[in-house]
Amino acid sequence: MKKQIQNIAIMTSGGDSPGMNAAIRAVVRTAVFYKKDPFGIYRGFEGLINGDIERFNARKVSNIINRGGTVLKTARSKEFRTIEGRKKAYEQLKKNDIDALVVIGGDGSFTGAKIFSEEFDFPVVGIPGTIDNDIYGTDFTIGFDTASNTATEAIDKIRDTASSHNRLFFIEVMGRNAGFLALYAGIAGGAEDILIPEENIGIDKLVESLRRSKRVGKTSSIVVVAEGDKTGKNVFELAKYVDENLKDYESRVVIIGHIQRGGCPTTFDRVLASRLGVKAIEVLLEGKKNVMVGLKDNKVTITQLSNAIKFHRTINKELLNISDILTT
Ligand code: F6P
Repeated sequence: MKKQIQNIAIMTSGGDSPGMNAAIRAVVRTAVFYKKDPFGIYRGFEGLINGDIERFNARKVSNIINRGGTVLKTARSKEFRTIEGRKKAYEQLKKNDIDALVVIGGDGSFTGAKIFSEEFDFPVVGIPGTIDNDIYGTDFTIGFDTASNTATEAIDKIRDTASSHNRLFFIEVMGRNAGFLALYAGIAGGAEDILIPEENIGIDKLVESLRRSKRVGKTSSIVVVAEGDKTGKNVFELAKYVDENLKDYESRVVIIGHIQRGGCPTTFDRVLASRLGVKAIEVLLEGKKNVMVGLKDNKVTITQLSNAIKFHRTINKELLNISDILTT
């Protein structure tokens, strides 16, 4: 007979995102609520391999719901990609008598978690935490809302200079290979054009669009560029090409960068993290493993980790359309 789950460990893995602490708090407190024993693993899979594990309790996660980053720290582990590394990780879990693992992270972390869960028949539940919002099986990942608000605020500030100096700004936002962050911040920030990897409009169409903006009386423009976009070699090359082909604008480039990863999580991210954290423990106690909890149509749902990794979220065409219409 299988041993009942009693000791549950939690870790954050991959890039940090605002709201991870709220998820840690929810997982730890839900475990305690159901009379289970929570453990924190520091520095993701890297820390697990090295036995960086501590027994937690409900008070250990006090005053963190409002904090950005992750109190458990995080890492991207090369060693966990090897079978030797994963064996060491399994031995550490056994040594600490841990029966199940909750992993908060993105697709890289879930890929490792899925392989591990299958290799050692170990119960793992994933909670999607990344500012990129690129995980299949959830409409929103923890941190995306905060990061898109941060990017929008940055665009608002840059707009002041753009309009005062009649300038053209290229603003690069994060998102790795996905354009969700760029699309949301671009629409919210009123960008003239939004360049995302999922929809390559081509550099000449961009130049034409900016030329048209001038013709219809716009004196300044903002182009939001997803870091994964392939329209130009990079945002600087893109700006150079446009400058050379569109003499009547003075352009500048801004890369918002890691500011998007930090800061106090929004209400939305805290609530999302709390809902997913509670569900993660509940699905484990129902005997499920190798799944990810997510939010679809405002309902908490479960997706097989293998599907969360295999499939890709698609960009909502309606949002692209809105952006086109509103730049008229
Ligand atoms: O996945 C989150 C993310 O911030 C991406 O948007 C970005 O491409 C990447 O991480 C940056 O990673 P690092 O912090 O390791 O430079």
